[in-house]
Amino acid sequence: RETQTDIYYTVCAQTGETEILPGEKTKTWGYNRSILGQTVVFPVGKHIHVTLQNRLPEITTFHWHGLNVSGPYVDGGCHAPVYPGEDSEIDFTLNQPASTNWLHAHPCPATAEQVYKGLATMVVVTDQHEASLSLPRTYGVDDIPVILQDRTFHENNQLDYRTDYDPDGVLGVTPLVNGTVNGYFDVTAKKMRLRLLNGANRREWRLHFSDDLEFVQIAGDGSLLPKPVHFTKLMLTCAERAELVVDFSKYKPGDEVILYSDQTPIMTFRIKEFTNDQHVEVPDELLKIEVPAVDPETPVRKVVMSGMDESVMMDHKKFKMDRIDAEQEVGLVQYWDVSNTNGRKMGMVHPFHCHGMSFLVISRNGHDPYPNERGFKDTVGVNPSETVRILVRFDLAGLYMYHCHILEHEDGGMMAQIETF
Ligand code: C2O
Ligand code: CU
Ligand code: CU
Repeated sequence: RETQTDIYYTVCAQTGETEILPGEKTKTWGYNRSILGQTVVFPVGKHIHVTLQNRLPEITTFHWHGLNVSGPYVDGGCHAPVYPGEDSEIDFTLNQPASTNWLHAHPCPATAEQVYKGLATMVVVTDQHEASLSLPRTYGVDDIPVILQDRTFHENNQLDYRTDYDPDGVLGVTPLVNGTVNGYFDVTAKKMRLRLLNGANRREWRLHFSDDLEFVQIAGDGSLLPKPVHFTKLMLTCAERAELVVDFSKYKPGDEVILYSDQTPIMTFRIKEFTNDQHVEVPDELLKIEVPAVDPETPVRKVVMSGMDESVMMDHKKFKMDRIDAEQEVGLVQYWDVSNTNGRKMGMVHPFHCHGMSFLVISRNGHDPYPNERGFKDTVGVNPSETVRILVRFDLAGLYMYHCHILEHEDGGMMAQIETF
């Protein structure tokens, strides 16, 4: 049983300067520090109180992406502004599986620019089931966050979002891991757990290691996978997470293993003596998932993502904060068919995300979902001309947004809201 002790946490959105490029100062924003923030760890079952502080020159919101908390004020969508110089208090108790989530700014329509400046950090939810499994979980030793982003540095090494603005999403030329360039990690444990988060505004990462090193994916966005999945390549669309266990035991001290996206090196794992005394055997069964039954009388909800650049729309409309687009009863289990009407050849992948719950991916154009989509998720890449069926159940009443997680598409109005009651 979880104990009843409350947890108090303060998160301050602030401006700062960060040495991202060696010897140069870049103006950045972050949570409790100059860029990104420390990883937040929230155990399920505890009463959590968070003080939100805005020390920025403009409005921001604090969105807990992947936390199943009531919207919109606790969940921090665009209805929950914290004004410059002000504080706000929220509290919640989590009841969801252990997972890797994130906190990011979500003011409309400035989400993309604020995240670009650095307002994003990892939020890890822990539970007793996950803690009972033989997995690496010593933070900073064999369990590390890997936040993937890309940026372009302009004159005086500044991030000039306005210069880079593209309605289809800002791409940077320089990959960043946890806000650093040329990121590396000194490996002292044979098996490393990497908590990958695609925190980029628009970029999809196509990840693989040098030597085509095989790795095991153990978790997706919202939970462990039912069973580990072995891969040599992994694609992550915006806002998706993947927890990997990478076995470096065949390497010797002095070896280097490189993580690439396509041909671009992202990060180096420098093998040291394996001084970390670790007993990890990834289990064959990670999580039992009971798929709730859908009443055949319940209609399938259709969600339509269309367009590119300025013409992007959600359900044939642009977002309006004072319009509620859909409703669903709390506890009802419903299929949503989420389609991307873009043409197969030229179209973009739209990563669909919904606040307030995690869903299960049922099918892609009627076929089985990918093997690493069998756990709970809150973001799913919908390919051009594809319909992804997901199974949705909300447990809390509130107002929640759903949108494309290419942040410039979201700011461009490819977003809608659903009220649950
Ligand atoms: Cu990370 Cu409304 O999203
Ligand atoms: Cu979200
Ligand atoms: Cu999109």
